[in-house]
Parts: sequence; structure tokens; C-alpha cells
Amino acid sequence: MKKSKRLDLIPPYLFVKIEEKKAELVKKGIDIIDFGIGDPDLPTPAHIFKKMHEVLEDKDSSNYPTSKGELSFRKAVADWYKKRFNVVLDPSSEVCCLIGSKEGLAHLFFAYVDAGDRTLVPDPAYPVYKIGTLLAGGEPYFMPLTRENGFLPDLEKVPADVLKKAKILFVNYPNNPTGAVADPEFFKKAVDFAKKNGLLLVSDLAYSEMGFNGYKPHSVLEVPGAKEVAIEFHSLSKTYNMTGWRIGMAVGNREAVAALATIKSNVDSGAFKAIQFAAIAALSGPQECVEDNNRVFGERAKILIDGLNLLGWKMDQLKATFYAWVPAPKGETSSSFTEKLLEKCGILVVPGSGYGSAGEGYVRMAITLPKERIVLAIERMKKAGIRFS
Ligand SMILES: Cc1ncc(COP(=O)(O)O)c(C=O)c1O
Repeated sequence: MKKSKRLDLIPPYLFVKIEEKKAELVKKGIDIIDFGIGDPDLPTPAHIFKKMHEVLEDKDSSNYPTSKGELSFRKAVADWYKKRFNVVLDPSSEVCCLIGSKEGLAHLFFAYVDAGDRTLVPDPAYPVYKIGTLLAGGEPYFMPLTRENGFLPDLEKVPADVLKKAKILFVNYPNNPTGAVADPEFFKKAVDFAKKNGLLLVSDLAYSEMGFNGYKPHSVLEVPGAKEVAIEFHSLSKTYNMTGWRIGMAVGNREAVAALATIKSNVDSGAFKAIQFAAIAALSGPQECVEDNNRVFGERAKILIDGLNLLGWKMDQLKATFYAWVPAPKGETSSSFTEKLLEKCGILVVPGSGYGSAGEGYVRMAITLPKERIVLAIERMKKAGIRFS
């Protein structure tokens, strides 16, 4: 049977290969210290589980949900946005429930991108922006994120002929994989740019609650008038350690929310209602669990960065996300450094080049493992003579 040409456009998902490699080594009895996929190792808070248990066997939980989500869920999202960002959202038209934000992001392309259209995609970036564009027949234009530009895209450098065909501008701060953050001035610039060029501004805010040492990330919707052009994708995955539950939301521009809901209603039937009810408990319940998470991740981040700096790196402490974007030592590529760490130290990291060509020369380390393992990783690197030079 002949497969679609579309399938040839896309590689196996980055982490599929990495997980296969890990399984192979574990099978050989090697103790792998895993800084790979960013999946919180901390438990979902107890009050969220409690709600899930309560609603699991309800008759109301088990029939078809609507793809846009229960009104009670959308109201909880709107209340949370008001409390957290002082952003007012209409739950009936400006909020859509998602089966995780990856689902929503991937479906959005089918509402906005036709063959030949361009999307403005950061490089490096979460792979879905590029792959979603390709699946919809579009062509991504990559905006390099470098140390020199503070890992913020230089919007003025997008060529006019690209802009003419461009439909979407993506921003993702706090950023995966670089851990960079954006201030409200950058978001204002992005909103103005989207307005001037007739673009849909897509803000991926998956890491909004993961800030350290007093840093609190911003929403693009805090910019006055942003809703005219912006849709923001959010998720409970990282905030409440709920990656496997698959629950998130798209909020903002009502036309974009409606367009996404149209696609969704034709291809999925929404998130399990019991999960939506548990998510309401997460969003409207006590938020100390978020601070507790940040305390743990903040402490781990400091151990990693201090440890790397003792080995010659000159890294700043993390402000947000649980990703350290670590430059490879001189003479090493992303891949060769990844292989060296794995072979000499049993340390699994993700090559930066997997997130785009501008990620070459870096590896990403996710601190989703206990601090003792981070200390051990630094010890192994020291013993193996791995230093930054
Ligand atoms: C930047 C970014 N956006 C979106 C997602 C998707 O999160 P989820 O589908 O779990 O909501 C991730 C997950 O790692 C991410 O890093």
C-alpha cells in the first residue's frame, strides 16, 4: 500500500528516537541519568486526584463531551486568567478546551494554513510548529533564536516576500528549548507586528507557571488590544504535573478560537469530562502546589547550573522552565556532545539541533529528575574530564 507524500515530509517525533536509544542502553544494564524529555517526575497534587475519583463514576462524566469543552471548565479557565494575568475572557467565545496543548496547536494549522502559505517559526523550537505547518501544506520560515538576540526573534529581519505569504507568527515564552523569557515589551512588539502584517499571533504559554527566584512569566494577552490578533495555548501538563492527563486550553481571539473549534469538532470529540472536572479543581483550587513545584525545580536548576559552571561553563541561573540550554564545548557538535555524554557518562540529553538548525552547538537538559541524580551527573562529567572550553 502506498502511503501519503505528506508522511515523507515528517521525521519520527524527536523523542521517539531518544526513548528507543534509552531503552536499548537500559537493556544493556547501563544506569542512565535521564535529562531527556521534559516530563515532570513529581506527582499530580492530591486534591486533583481526589476530584477525579469523585467524578470518575458519575453518569455525567462518561458520555460525549463537546469538543469546545464544558462551560464550567471554560469558566474556570476565564477565572484563572483574570486572577493570574488580569486578562478578561468570555468563556462562551474566547476559550476552547484542548486534549493537551499539542493537540490544539497541531489542529490550528488546518484552520489557517493552505498550500504555499508561510508560517513564522522560531528556530530552535518545539517541533509541532514546523511539523504542523508541513502537514497542512505550508512552508515554515525560520527565525533564529541566538544568544546574541537574547533568544528573541528579530521580527524586522523577516523578508517582505515571506511576509506577503505569512499567516501565523509563533512565540513561546518561557521558551522550550532555550529556557529564555520575554518581557512585556517584546510581546507588545509581536502584537504590533502581527497587526501590521495581518498575521495570527500564536503564543504558546505551556510554561507560564514555572518561574524561579521571583520571576513571574507574562501572557501575550496582557498587551492591550492583543485579542484582536492573538490566540494563546496553555496547558495543565507542566503546571500541575498532569502531562499524561491530556488537558489544556486555547484562549483569546474569538474568530481563531471558533476556527479551531470547527476543526476539532470534525476530528475529535473533546477531552474526557472527568478530566475537565479535575482540571477545574486544579485551576480553582489551592495554588501552593505550583509554588512547591517551583521550589523543587528551582533548587535542581541551581544544582545543575552551579555544577556546570564549576566545570568551566558560564551559564546564568534559570529564570523559567525546567530546561537548561547548554552550549557544547569547543570542537563538539550537538550530536557529538550528546553521544559523548551518553557513552562516557551514561547521561541522556537532547541534541539542540533536533529543535532546528540554530539549535546546533547546544544540548537541552531537562531537570525532571531528583537532585541526587543531577549531582551524580556532574560527578560523572568531572570524572570523565568533560569541561567547557
Ligand atoms: C513549548 C511547548 N508547547 C506545548 C507543549 C505540549 O504540552 P501538552 O500537549 O502536554 O499540553 C509542550 C510540551 O512539552 C511544550 O514544550
